[in-house]
Amino acid sequence: MKLAVVGGGSTYTPELIDGFARLRDELPISEIVLVDPDERRLALVSAMASRMLRRAGHPAVVSTAATVDQGAAGAQAVLLQLRVGGQAARNVDETLPPACGCVGQETTGAGGLAKALRTVPVVLDIAERVAKVAPDAWIVDFTNPVGIVTRALLQAGHRAIGLCNVAIGFQRRFAAHLGVAPERVSLGHVGLNHLTWERSVHVDGRDVLPELLADHGEEIAADIGLPAPLIRRLGVVPSYYLRYFYEHDAVVAEQLGKPSRAAEVAALEESLLRMYADPAVDTKPELLASRGGAFYSEAAVALIASLAGDRGDVQVVNLRNDGTLPFLPDDAVIEVPARVGSSGATALPVDPVEPLYAGLIAHVTAYEALALEAALHGGADRVADALLAHPLVGQASLSADLAARLVTANRAFLPWA
Ligand code: G6P
Ligand code: MN
Ligand code: MN
Repeated sequence: MKLAVVGGGSTYTPELIDGFARLRDELPISEIVLVDPDERRLALVSAMASRMLRRAGHPAVVSTAATVDQGAAGAQAVLLQLRVGGQAARNVDETLPPACGCVGQETTGAGGLAKALRTVPVVLDIAERVAKVAPDAWIVDFTNPVGIVTRALLQAGHRAIGLCNVAIGFQRRFAAHLGVAPERVSLGHVGLNHLTWERSVHVDGRDVLPELLADHGEEIAADIGLPAPLIRRLGVVPSYYLRYFYEHDAVVAEQLGKPSRAAEVAALEESLLRMYADPAVDTKPELLASRGGAFYSEAAVALIASLAGDRGDVQVVNLRNDGTLPFLPDDAVIEVPARVGSSGATALPVDPVEPLYAGLIAHVTAYEALALEAALHGGADRVADALLAHPLVGQASLSADLAARLVTANRAFLPWA
């Protein structure tokens, strides 16, 4: 199978290659094309990827391409993992909103909107190119904000599925707490990308979430940055992105007093690139574990293997709602467990969602619809409307002010600004 990775020059790529090498029986890959406009990174990362595969005795050939038209031709799957504007643009997403009293995060709140504005047009252009050169390929989108980007892809008629590592991360960590193999753990995961709750944790058909919270509540709470008494009382495990909502003001105060994650990651990336440049390095560096992408290669392998091999297993993905959550429009993109086969992903039925979660899900869904409108059609008023609809912004003068600042700071990436 031929696979193209757009954003292949990412320092994350060795994580992906490591997964491909370990899981070769699950997904036989013969050719990996790394597509990236950044020549320096592409050269370093592709050489590193080749060494890793050679070391693992994996037969796949790694090649590079500067454009999607060249790189994706004939691919069966195209993985999108790009970051428009790099860490510098991310730094603006993370630092501009806190200066206005709002959380600064690249996928949540105003920062997430700025990222959507930069990213949606680029991803749609890529998808159109993929549709021409590899019409049967599945597009697997890791590019954030995954909910909005996937919605854009599906609305434009592309064969796309959105993917994130939050659910697989919980599955792996819960399995370790419980002392069982991860495959035996299935999550009652519900919500939108980066806005989810685990409402059940089944092992061999039995819900063990109450025991898990009783026995490992402190560890789980520390992991997601929320108080153990809260998650025990609710009886659910929110993802750590819910901290930006449930502890919003505390997070803003923290953010104002420390360097941004973008600054941290930029430094990490320089160290990683130095390691990739060393011809003696041929395994995934420990340092990569300091990035947030743990297990994303395993999620990607599982999804592509099920799409290509019609396995019909259940995986947590981002897909069209189509009535799964009856309080949302059909064209909303939700993140839930779905059965995955050669015709794509079909959501499993979801138990009625409690108002405590449904309210926020509906609120953010409305924001996502307006964010996509702003990304597709531009205009400071559309940007302000999306912010007015966001539960973490929501005030008129603040929305107008933040909209103006975000547009100015991102002008280089916005064709309409
Ligand atoms: C998690 C999220 C990803 C996000 C990443 C950021 O993996 O699920 O969507 O891109 O964290 O990690 P970083 O190391 O760049 O902060
Ligand atoms: Mn994610
Ligand atoms: Mn434990």
